[in-house]
Amino acid sequence: MKVLVIGSGGREHAICWGISNSKKIDKIYCAPGNAGISNIAEIVNIKTDNLEGLVNFAKKENIDFTIVGPEQPLSLGIVDLFRENNLLVFGPSKYASQLESSKEFSKLFMKRNNIPTATFESFTNYESARNYLDNSSIPIVIKADGLASGKGVKVCFSKDEAFSFLKEVMQDKVFSTSGDKVVIESFLKGEEASFFVFSDGKNILTLDSSQDHKRLMDGDKGPNTGGMGAYSPAPIIDQITRQNILNEIVYPVFEGFKKENFEYTGILYIGLMIDNKKPSVVEFNCRFGDPETQPLLFRINSDIFDLFYFTALNKINDYQLEWKSKTAVSVVLASKGYPASPITGDEIRNLKEIDLSTDEYIFHAGTKLDGNKIIISGGRVLNVTALGDTLEAAINKTYECINKIETKNLQYRNDIGVKGLLKKGK
Ligand code: AMP
Ligand code: GLY
Repeated sequence: MKVLVIGSGGREHAICWGISNSKKIDKIYCAPGNAGISNIAEIVNIKTDNLEGLVNFAKKENIDFTIVGPEQPLSLGIVDLFRENNLLVFGPSKYASQLESSKEFSKLFMKRNNIPTATFESFTNYESARNYLDNSSIPIVIKADGLASGKGVKVCFSKDEAFSFLKEVMQDKVFSTSGDKVVIESFLKGEEASFFVFSDGKNILTLDSSQDHKRLMDGDKGPNTGGMGAYSPAPIIDQITRQNILNEIVYPVFEGFKKENFEYTGILYIGLMIDNKKPSVVEFNCRFGDPETQPLLFRINSDIFDLFYFTALNKINDYQLEWKSKTAVSVVLASKGYPASPITGDEIRNLKEIDLSTDEYIFHAGTKLDGNKIIISGGRVLNVTALGDTLEAAINKTYECINKIETKNLQYRNDIGVKGLLKKGK
């Protein structure tokens, strides 16, 4: 089978790696891919927002199945376009993708269906939003309604901070039209975790738990990022918490889809805040998480291609998901200057010489090839991933692997997974 994967991050490298282990795969194409992906897939030089280009490529090359990684093409309607052209594709429709592309859409859906989440108001008028903030207590959270590459949200701990972020979003338009509307919501306390559900439109399949580390620096300090590292499973989601997530969030969400007649296919990413085993929804995303995909897929024993394929064929119940009884950790090596202004263009010199066991893998994100050289080309650069019999062993193995890489032009956290160790009381 010929498969096209759309995207260029660590998530897409993990997807390409995962499906490449399937006997059903003859050839993988990836648009636009990265240096690491080029070892397992043919790189296609088409950008993720060029929907016409992608659909034409899929038709010309007789692609059997397409997996969409990032949110942008989903929110532009790539799945609808592929389906109109009778091409099999993994992901939700443009309509369903609004769960991620409009914060207001997703909050209203949660409100209608009694899903636990922060209380909120939305505004299109700057003065009204400012007045509302003036009468609110802090901390308070301001969110640009539309997509903003993870930068459109600010948890504000003072009124001044809130007023100035509101101005940036609504008046200075730093996120362009994504800031035409804002959602202002109450602050949720607790610890964040990620929960993923595959849905074929009728039935669902839930994955094991995982946890991202969104802040740049150790101890959850510094600015928010796309994610600096993740691990799976995450002890914060114990048996009781998992059951609460299913009963209070997952089942009501999919009941809500049914009631409201919208079909959700693909993967639903539920960003959670967990306070004393009680989960609330921070956000929905309509695609796999990055970097959570890397440790999650690294732990799957069954055919990863079939997981995507059976979902798209509306027969998820036929898929037997099997996990390795190991823990996986993935640490993001980011370029210096990330997230504000990543420094790109430097070479990572010794990547090719590093010996890896089958329990270790270096997924690429912001890398490109210049002849034989691997060059830093983005904010998040590499995701060093390892399996261990325990969380502690997985952490140790991941950092041992990082020590073999020339990291002088890179920055990374030293405490990925440590939260989980503390939970386990180790
Ligand atoms: P979002 O894009 O909605 O996931 O927001 C980005 C980040 O902001 C989240 O990962 C949280 O760390 C934080 N955040 C968002 N909403 C809230 C909230 N209501 N309470 C506390 N933190 C929040
Ligand atoms: N892990 C954060 C994200 O994928 O948005």
